[in-house]
Amino acid sequence: MTHHLFLVGFMGAGKSSVGRQVAERLGVPFVDLDERIAAERGATIREIFETGGEKSFREVERDALIALQSEPPSVVACGGGVVVRDENRGALKRLGTVVHLKVDAAEALARIGDTSTRPLLSGRGGAMAATSLLVARESLYAAVADVVVDTTGRGIDEVAAAVLDEVAGRLS
Ligand code: S3P
Repeated sequence: MTHHLFLVGFMGAGKSSVGRQVAERLGVPFVDLDERIAAERGATIREIFETGGEKSFREVERDALIALQSEPPSVVACGGGVVVRDENRGALKRLGTVVHLKVDAAEALARIGDTSTRPLLSGRGGAMAATSLLVARESLYAAVADVVVDTTGRGIDEVAAAVLDEVAGRLS
């Protein structure tokens, strides 16, 4: 593997669980960008949103993404909003192969369950927020993806196998 494999997609798409399995199968490190941000900041994603708002989170997220350019090839699970910034979409394309794990709003919410760790969905109106955010982002995921894998009605093992299948031959 000569460059990163990025998993993008909406919250609840399974990026972290699938990414862990795919990394293990490929024998490369796994990076969860949100976990890394939280560890570096010593704060949860929710706390970062509470302190500095979404804008400050997006800046930290951009820095964490760009920092990957000096790291060995890894499987990277990105936060669902990583595609919002132009510069991030450019970095994703430049630094690796991008897989979009597709999910619909209803299934995403069902998988997430407790939305309290997802600041953009927590509180009343979360279901509506999920639908409109997903619609707004669909074209951004499409713009950056080299490969699209539909996760609807599929478990983690099945999605991981589909990702490995789709990226075979694209990583070297
Ligand atoms: C976000 C998704 C979250 C996290 C933050 C913002 C988004 O990551 O980065 O709450 O804007 O879609 P997950 O997609 O891993 O839940």
